Amino acid sequence: MNASLPRRTLLAGLAALPAAAALGQQAPAPQPATGPHSLAALPYAFDANEAAIDARTMELHWRFHHGAQVANLNTALRGQEELGRLPLDEVLMNLPRASDATRTAIRNNGGGHANHTMFWEIMGGRGGEPAAGPLMEAITRDLGGMGELRNRFNAASMSVFGSGWAFVTVDREGRLALTTRPNQDNPLMDGQRVLMGNDLWEHAYYLRYQNRRAEYVGNWWNVLDWQKIAARHEAARQGTLRV
Ligand SMILES: [Fe+2]
Repeated sequence: MNASLPRRTLLAGLAALPAAAALGQQAPAPQPATGPHSLAALPYAFDANEAAIDARTMELHWRFHHGAQVANLNTALRGQEELGRLPLDEVLMNLPRASDATRTAIRNNGGGHANHTMFWEIMGGRGGEPAAGPLMEAITRDLGGMGELRNRFNAASMSVFGSGWAFVTVDREGRLALTTRPNQDNPLMDGQRVLMGNDLWEHAYYLRYQNRRAEYVGNWWNVLDWQKIAARHEAARQGTLRV
């Protein structure tokens, strides 16, 4: 199934998630997004990442998990004019300005929106490694090369207890570092920007892999789009990388 659907359709049926997901039904009547944030179409078909992630997982993950986070973020931002006007990265860098009643919801759902937006962007490729250039140089300089990056990133991914993410962060000089976060936290909350990251929640892999996170983490490298990741690296150096 192609992911190029109207935005109104993409957010359809979020309230009916369990029934629709369990039965594999078409989502019920559309519920328009109301608020500053929206769920973008995937940049590829649901089966584009079959080398690591099955099409059904891709659809459920994007439509319902990410979609719900967008809807919940918009709900949490209602009535907060200052935060509501900010782009997503600045929302996450200004969580202390959220009301006490909404801060946790904005953190969880805004973080989830940023994490998943990045996650979809960097996949859809065929793995391998970056072309020679600033990104490859940074991987060699800061992380010990591609083999060391994979080994350390996979180990970090396995060290996350429960749900969370593994990331490579990038600064304005293009320097890289490995890190992890629990839940839907994002390094933007600490003023750091993300080059790439992997979703370690069970919803990201359970249909195909069940409890075998290591297998999922290992296969994930097969669907990375290194051109997209290199573009993010360049954007970070230019100061234009957002989420
Ligand atoms: Fe996820």
